[in-house]
Amino acid sequence: MGNTVLILGSFVVDVAFRAARLPAWGETIMGSNFALGPGGKGSNQAVAAARAGASVSFFSKVADDTFGQLARATWAAEGIDSTLTGTSEVATGAAAILLDERSGENAIIVVPGACFTLTPAEVEAAAPAIRATSVFLAQLELPLDTVAAGLRIARDAGVTTILNPAPAPASLPDELDELICLADYFIPNETEAAILTGLPVLSIDQAERAADALLGRGARNVILTLGARGSLLRSAGESTLIPAFNAGPVLETTGAGDAFCGAFAAALASGQSAAGAARFASAAAGISVTRPGTAPSMPHRAEIEALLNRS
Ligand code: ATP
Ligand code: RIB
Repeated sequence: MGNTVLILGSFVVDVAFRAARLPAWGETIMGSNFALGPGGKGSNQAVAAARAGASVSFFSKVADDTFGQLARATWAAEGIDSTLTGTSEVATGAAAILLDERSGENAIIVVPGACFTLTPAEVEAAAPAIRATSVFLAQLELPLDTVAAGLRIARDAGVTTILNPAPAPASLPDELDELICLADYFIPNETEAAILTGLPVLSIDQAERAADALLGRGARNVILTLGARGSLLRSAGESTLIPAFNAGPVLETTGAGDAFCGAFAAALASGQSAAGAARFASAAAGISVTRPGTAPSMPHRAEIEALLNRS
């Protein structure tokens, strides 16, 4: 069971456009670059965890269409076990990623498609596989009751649970409180933490207060990612600030959170402490932002260790 990570999450195809600015409604503008590749927070995190050295199972749904074939080819190339991933009649989804060509900032629309048809009953049918993993990781690009079903099974079996509440829902259903309680590690970014707590998250002090609010709602540990400022690990009155790593010029930060979560899960599964795993994850994310794309930007374990050794 050691070193195994099971990820319940989304696959979509990322369609990324670089342009000088966002178009207004009704307007067409010329962009400077286009790329199409595998994405979806769940699948990106699966690629990150596999490249970071874990034995990874990915649980989702895709259609038997061109995008679904890209998904299955990606997982096969990365050595990710996708036997739990079923086939949906609904087309595989896509994400429109608009990138500011100067700042690298992004605006994203996700239409999850096939993966959003995964039901709680289908997750319950996979309970033996969930109980057998050492770390279980989920995000919020699937229906909340589907995510809750997976977390409940993992928690009842004593499996370490990680929830990356991304994207944070605009309205906050009661179900979210149960999800927070089921997380051994709850990993929001600044925006998600602010939405979930209603508190501003602009400074480290404010990040601590938001993390405490999430601990108060039942998360066992919170890791609040803070972009180029690194991340804050907060557990019952104790804070560890994990610095970001400078691995070269920053090209595209899309997927940095996925690199962090996938690598963190892999490091925990390999037996590292939470602080050690967060440092490993920070190095992985620091490398990913120097490369274009999401899943393709995830670094391999040897690169992460080399960066850690020279820092
Ligand atoms: P995204 O939505 O762009 O995928 P995110 O907003 O979920 O990312 P961030 O908090 O921006 O997540 O970044 C996650 C982690 O990635 C940070 O905690 C940090 O370790 C690393 N990181 C992000 N931006 C940079 C950067 N410019 N330089 C180095 N590391 C970075
Ligand atoms: O976290 C980045 C991911 O979010 C992208 O790959 C896109 O698919 C969206 O789901």
